[in-house]
Amino acid sequence: MKHILTVAAIAATAIIPVPSACLAADIQSPSGTISLNAEVIDGKPTYSVDFKGKAVILPSTLGLQLADGPDMTDGFVLTSVETSHFDETWHPVWGENASIRNNYNELLLHLDQPEHYRKMDLRFRVYDDGVGLRYEFPQNGVLTYFIIKEELTRFAMTGDHTAWWIAGDYDTQEYDYTECRLSEIRSKMSEAISSNASQTQFSPTGVQTSLQMKTDDGIYINLHEAALVDYSCMHLELDDSNLVFTSWLTPDAQGNKGHQQVPCHSPWRTIMITDNACDILASNLILNLNEPCAYEDTSWIKPVKYVGVWWEMIGGGKQWSYTHDLPSVKLDKLDYSTTKPHGLHPANNENVKRYIDFAAEHGFDQVLVEGWNVGWEDWFGHSKDYVFDFQTPYPDFDIDMLNEYAKQKGVKIMMHHETSASIRNYERHMHDAYALMQKYGYNSVKSGYVGNMLPRGEHHYGQWLNNHYLYAVTEAAKYHIMVNAHEAVRPTGLCRTYPNLIGNESARGTEYEAFAGNKPSHTTVLPFTRLQGGPMDYTPGIFELDMKKVNPESQGHVNSTLARQLALYVTMYSPLQMAADVPEVYNRFLDAFQFIKDVPVDWQESRYLEAEPGQYIVAARKDKASDNWFIGCTAGENGHESQISLDFLDKNRKYEATIYADAPDAHYIHNQQAYVISKKKVDAKTRLKMKAAPGGGYAISVKPIN
Ligand code: NOJ
Ligand code: CA
Repeated sequence: MKHILTVAAIAATAIIPVPSACLAADIQSPSGTISLNAEVIDGKPTYSVDFKGKAVILPSTLGLQLADGPDMTDGFVLTSVETSHFDETWHPVWGENASIRNNYNELLLHLDQPEHYRKMDLRFRVYDDGVGLRYEFPQNGVLTYFIIKEELTRFAMTGDHTAWWIAGDYDTQEYDYTECRLSEIRSKMSEAISSNASQTQFSPTGVQTSLQMKTDDGIYINLHEAALVDYSCMHLELDDSNLVFTSWLTPDAQGNKGHQQVPCHSPWRTIMITDNACDILASNLILNLNEPCAYEDTSWIKPVKYVGVWWEMIGGGKQWSYTHDLPSVKLDKLDYSTTKPHGLHPANNENVKRYIDFAAEHGFDQVLVEGWNVGWEDWFGHSKDYVFDFQTPYPDFDIDMLNEYAKQKGVKIMMHHETSASIRNYERHMHDAYALMQKYGYNSVKSGYVGNMLPRGEHHYGQWLNNHYLYAVTEAAKYHIMVNAHEAVRPTGLCRTYPNLIGNESARGTEYEAFAGNKPSHTTVLPFTRLQGGPMDYTPGIFELDMKKVNPESQGHVNSTLARQLALYVTMYSPLQMAADVPEVYNRFLDAFQFIKDVPVDWQESRYLEAEPGQYIVAARKDKASDNWFIGCTAGENGHESQISLDFLDKNRKYEATIYADAPDAHYIHNQQAYVISKKKVDAKTRLKMKAAPGGGYAISVKPIN
């Protein structure tokens, strides 16, 4: 007979030795919405999860295959169980909310694999909105070093759910999302892949996390991971006959999936479960499963609103490089004094000063300048190890003068380090590059990892690279530098521990609108998926949305209305927000630009008012530094009609709302710049009916008047 240990309300750690016949343990979330069962069945560790009495994860096995020893998948016995309860409120350095409650019940299973004298622990944390589980390898077994062949964490689904997914890929996340049933993933894969030219899809049913799903009875399930440190990034492979996902780690150059030394543990595997889409967006599960802040002094970490010398190159046909000459000459042999500039280089003194003036006039903190440093003539491909030195400016970029000019105007220049995925080269120069930043007063860097990885054969999401990304962040902290890495691994909440990681791209951003266009639904999916792990440098704020007007050669089209571009500053949470269009375009629309000037980048409190993945998201956030509220709505192909209550406002105050809405005939393809700005007195009793056009949205700023 099987004995069940039921854990109700536990105030402190309890260690319960397991009688030989007792092979299972149950635990519930603090208010009982989620329950988890863990047991050893025929020697195999197995778990299942219920939400409000309904199965969400059917019994699913856990374990690992090793490349250098017997597998850790069966032959286990449960030796003892520990249970505990945890409840604290913590305060992030920046975030969607000024305080976050971390409240869970924990179950720790101690397992023995007697045949091989090995031990493995399984730790489960059960929250009211989800579960985290991880493998732990204590020092007291015979296991010392081991090589992971594959992690076999299974997630058995209860039905053919609807999923919002991007293709499994070891090197890019810059895909459009596909919405379909799990059973349709295989047939949709080649179309899904065609939105990006990457070569490293691993399986016809492999997808990336964070994976958002919805069951036919309205339960939202999200699979991802938290605290990805010294481990390979997890993808999911679907057995589409049985509707079971299995973890699929990113391999290294030799095909192995991870090198470990005990004591160690895997990242958390996360399962968010709610019956309301807004609660998925509001969940703090991923952040809560990360370690507290590792830095004592965080006073130097500040949210950033910025403009930049960028869209001119991405959308406007300008160049990062200074000249057409010098291809394939080694970096230390470059001599720009003898070459002819091509005249398409916007990172020049005059233009950068123009951006600095614009930033100062409109209250932006920083000006990103890409293409400031030598090496862009031939910057990726050819397996070039030695590309940039991140220190030598082009002849027309006077680093001394421009930083001084910016300082006089009260703004900073944002550094740009495109590594071209040549990691050895970046690490070779990193300290001098950070020291140069410190010398001139830069406090943030946008880095990037375009191209195939060097060392050859390594992948963007492998263990080795994950260690590099974190090294770049922790070394930057020593210089009080904040990091926004593009093309790095998708975030897993590490910004809680290392809050100078103020942004990542790691998904298809606005740049793809210039290259090809994103699906109109894209920004209604990203907050459910990519943003679960941390903020995204999505670079919204494009006002000239017809790319043919920007560059007749462009293949892109910004699939959005102008009003929706404003809303993204609220719906796409980030402490780092760019106003990505160029000053001359903003100068034509100064009334709408006012919203971008007003919207803060750090928040006291956030609420999700309406949401459905692929359809619409409506968020309201309160400024951390004032009593102003900001509301944003982004809508997909079908537009959206909102009925929102402003009951979150202070009951004793009156406010003025400035509403930036799509005009009645606005449309993301043919009438993008049709918007209407109106003002209205509102209070906590106000109900607003709002309409977003197809691919449209609205933005509202709400300021107290008494
Ligand atoms: C790709 C990044 O996402 C983009 O923002 C950047 O401009 C280019 N790489 C060049 O570094
Ligand atoms: Ca990119």
